[in-house]
Amino acid sequence: EIPIITVDGPSGAGKGTLCQKLAQYYGFHLLDSGAIYRIAALAVCNLQVSIEDESAVLRVIETLDIQFKTVDQKIAVFLDGKEVSSQIRTERVGMAASKIAALGNVRAALLERQRHFAQSPGLIADGRDMGTTVFPNADVKVFLTATAEERARRRYQQLLSSGVDADFEAILSDIQLRDEQDSKRAVSPLKACTSAVSIDSSEMTIDAVFEKIVEYADS
Ligand code: CDP
Repeated sequence: EIPIITVDGPSGAGKGTLCQKLAQYYGFHLLDSGAIYRIAALAVCNLQVSIEDESAVLRVIETLDIQFKTVDQKIAVFLDGKEVSSQIRTERVGMAASKIAALGNVRAALLERQRHFAQSPGLIADGRDMGTTVFPNADVKVFLTATAEERARRRYQQLLSSGVDADFEAILSDIQLRDEQDSKRAVSPLKACTSAVSIDSSEMTIDAVFEKIVEYADS
């Protein structure tokens, strides 16, 4: 059995940073499932397929050529052999990812691709439905949250420190909109798994969250 730790939660709760730290600490593989949905959305946008056309979207997903490569402890993502690491991080692609992620057939088509990441010596899986649907037998399940204001504040700081001009109110309303879209969808809505340990990181640093999970996982 491959050991698996799942980390689920809403947009901007700090899952990405946390999962990178966990993967490094345990020497495990890392699945950024959001990146898969984002690459799928980018492919759909690039091919000018309408998100409303479910069967056309599905055809794109089924032939998706995705690769992840670790370079200097950072994960670079490739679509059709071209690096798209920064391209998939735009708000436009995030919003499109959230829309196609609401389609049940899309989620089903991406299931096996995600399960493939569970390889020796272990896996840290970051997403929305890792503990509930993709890896229901995971050894440790975490549900990481933070208030929408705190998540917006972190995103805002992150943008400012990378030299990007940012608008706090716009970021906050994007986060609220995506929360709404992700939690109210009919298929696999974002919800805590009953067996997950729930952590509110609003008043905690990601380092403190990391310490808490390692303590819990190793006990
Ligand atoms: O963290 P952030 O919300 O910015 O984005 P992400 O984790 O990269 O995910 C992008 C979108 O993909 C989310 O808004 C979700 O709608 C969707 N997603 C999903 O449905 N299931 C997952 N396991 C991961 C992401």
